[in-house]
Amino acid sequence: MSKPAACPFVPPFPAPHKTRSSFLARFVRSWMSWIHGLFENSYTMLMGEIRMPGLHIFIPNELPLVERVMNEAKAFPKHAMMVEVLEPAIGISTFTANGEDWEQQRAMINPAFQHTALAKTLPLMCDAARALIERIGTDGGERVIDIDPLMTHVAADIIFRTLFSVPLDAAGSAVIHRRFNRFQRFAQSGAVFRLYGLPTFGYKGRSEREARGIHEVFAGIVQDRYRRFHGAGEVVHRDILQSLFEARHPVSGAPFTVRQVMEQVSLIFLAGHETSASLMSWATYLLAECGALQQRMRDEVVHLTGERGFTMDALKAMTLTRNVVRETLRLYPPVAFLPRDTVCPVTMRGKPIAPGDMLVISPWLVQRNARNWRDPHAFDPDRFEEPDGQEMLKKAWLPFGKGPRLCIGAGFAQQEAMVVLAHLVRHFCLASPAGDKPEPVSRLTLRPRNGIRIALKPIGG
Ligand code: HEM
Repeated sequence: MSKPAACPFVPPFPAPHKTRSSFLARFVRSWMSWIHGLFENSYTMLMGEIRMPGLHIFIPNELPLVERVMNEAKAFPKHAMMVEVLEPAIGISTFTANGEDWEQQRAMINPAFQHTALAKTLPLMCDAARALIERIGTDGGERVIDIDPLMTHVAADIIFRTLFSVPLDAAGSAVIHRRFNRFQRFAQSGAVFRLYGLPTFGYKGRSEREARGIHEVFAGIVQDRYRRFHGAGEVVHRDILQSLFEARHPVSGAPFTVRQVMEQVSLIFLAGHETSASLMSWATYLLAECGALQQRMRDEVVHLTGERGFTMDALKAMTLTRNVVRETLRLYPPVAFLPRDTVCPVTMRGKPIAPGDMLVISPWLVQRNARNWRDPHAFDPDRFEEPDGQEMLKKAWLPFGKGPRLCIGAGFAQQEAMVVLAHLVRHFCLASPAGDKPEPVSRLTLRPRNGIRIALKPIGG
């Protein structure tokens, strides 16, 4: 397979401001999205510092500092403000808990994640990807569609099948897409008010209402199966939900209550689809902009899956497809900012950091910093085949976090994105309609502000 020149495409991101802007301007921009408040220096600085009313924030970007904050989970726990924002959606579950509580919850949910083993989930990911292709339809000519709700549906469907052993229908998916978008907007507004030391003006209540709407999509399944298992010992399916029923607290030996199961399920469902949907929407857009690279990926997929279909061996051999996923995660990390608390006084780059100060590790900034990556804003999946790209993959690529709080679903998410994107390029030629330029906005996750329109032309056969 001959390799055309690397795609020199620089995909959209908010133009950074020349200098640090006024307090009010920063308030207005962060109201919409965190990345809209950044300025030029943010992309090269080794450590940033922002003073808010009642809160001092540091943004360490230097790699040894990033490593330190991410590795020392006890000294730098998850920040209370982030926990408060997420609590309506996922309670104090494994993502939001700290210290001993986190250790015990993690020990309880670890066995459930055997159900995300890659070989086990490959067939259900392929089923969900085929269902996506059918939803788009391979008959007729080219059509232009917003890919973002479709990616939400396929990602939510995959995690639904893994959690509950049943597919997610279109109505449930539409509720989730609409409600989570609203949840993010309200949570963002509430967080910005809190950051500026103001009351949340009803935004908390609104985000709670949206979270309840999401929970309703699966509350019936959880409650019914909980009753059947704890009441009559009935095992409906051997899946993540069943493992959560069987989990026991490492000290007390108690099972999760139905409310705790709901919290863990909500976490796995939301963490497990919202982020993956973001990844797959942006990857589709990047492929649509880079026709030659898209064709190389199609050749790779057809060559490796042609005779025996999607096997683990075929997937392992898909170097370019894997690099497209990695490069999308570098440019558009679905979780762009990771806020941490400071428990004891520390010094970083000569600055004293006091207990209560916020530390923000930003995959968005570390992964777009010119000290770490050449052409940091350019889409070039082949960079991971070069020695410096491979080195930075270990040191300056952290879309799934790092250290003890590393994402539990990292392998699952990358496999699902590879499977879905491979199915997509096998069945369709993707193009971006002329003049369309999606805008990334970063709230809890990084999503396109007004969706992403893609022209899909069925390939046939
Ligand atoms: C592209 C997809 C994904 C991205 C970018 C992503 C990103 C992350 C990040 C950055 C963290 C750490 C946050 C921090 O350190 O503050 C995290 C934690 C977590 N993720 Fe993911 N995630 C993805 C997919 C998934 C999937 C598919 C699942 C479940 C099947 C999952 C479940 C979790 C859980 C349970 C945690 C908490 C781990 C702990 O603290 O013990 N994630 N994720």
